Amino acid sequence: MSAIRSGTARVTAVAPGRVNLIGEHTDYMGGLVLPMAVHLSTTVTGTRGGRVIELRSAQLDGVVRIPLPVGDAAAVDPAWGRYVAGVAAELGTSTGFSGTVDSTVPLGSGLSSSAALEVATALALGMTGTPLEVALACQRAEHAATGVPCGIMDQLCSAAGVEGHALLIDCATLDVTPVPVPDDAHIWVVDSGRPRRLVESGYAARRAACEAAVDLVGPLPYADMADIEDIADPVLRSRARHVRTECDRVRGFAAALHADDLVRAGQLMVASHTSLRDDFEVSTPVLDALVEELCSVTGVHGARLTGAGFGGCVVALAGPGVELPGWEVRPAAGASVTVT
Ligand code: GLA
Repeated sequence: MSAIRSGTARVTAVAPGRVNLIGEHTDYMGGLVLPMAVHLSTTVTGTRGGRVIELRSAQLDGVVRIPLPVGDAAAVDPAWGRYVAGVAAELGTSTGFSGTVDSTVPLGSGLSSSAALEVATALALGMTGTPLEVALACQRAEHAATGVPCGIMDQLCSAAGVEGHALLIDCATLDVTPVPVPDDAHIWVVDSGRPRRLVESGYAARRAACEAAVDLVGPLPYADMADIEDIADPVLRSRARHVRTECDRVRGFAAALHADDLVRAGQLMVASHTSLRDDFEVSTPVLDALVEELCSVTGVHGARLTGAGFGGCVVALAGPGVELPGWEVRPAAGASVTVT
């Protein structure tokens, strides 16, 4: 006897998390970033239909139930449903969805579990368009759902990832250039064990300081170093110095990957961490100690905090045969959707 089929198509949308190799707090200033989509991902599975979005999570409590059209995305409970509601509101979704969310991206650790959820949701709800269009819609959704004025890096990396490559993204032009990750480069993510704190308030404050510095010296990625050193306010001066020097480090890191010069790449990661600690002040003593400890392991070329900071994860670059207390992540392809 043949199986009874409902005729309702089953949708499976998969979107990867990302680890940022270098280029931190530069995206919202129109600077350079070099993230890599990873093999850890979020999957939204289910069927389209009706006038309600109803999702369960394999990892988190609560059922998200969002009647359409979406009202206030930021008020949805449980909180993880705000990302879903933000995306549905952004897309103007009128067809519901019923299904589950399952994720291998560690939640809230700086590996962009939220961007992966947004991108997977957008594809599950039927959004079509270029990876950039999907990413921009998801970025707007995150702004609306959380109030955090994030840049474009996380969503664009999740949508546009290329297997075996990191992505050099110019956040002024939104050009994406895949950069091959050499076979002998092993990327590890180590959780500091401290949840990220102050991300909302600290992130917005950093962004506001950078914007104030732009009024004084122009776009930070291309500002004259001497002009930056002349900024009278010491906080604005150091925030601007970080963005300007970090963009140079991204260029250097991309060149080092092309040349398979992992020692140089590792040095740039450590310099990035130092700048995030001293000039941008988004590190913590626990992250600093972890970076130092990882860098002392034989075969580790460098390490730095990854993501917004204030806690979360460290990314380390190691040669073959090194075992670190975290996840080894592989450069993965971007998001995809199948309808069966
Ligand atoms: C978060 C944001 C990104 C980026 C990083 C810091 O991950 O979502 O847009 O600004 O912080 O580099």
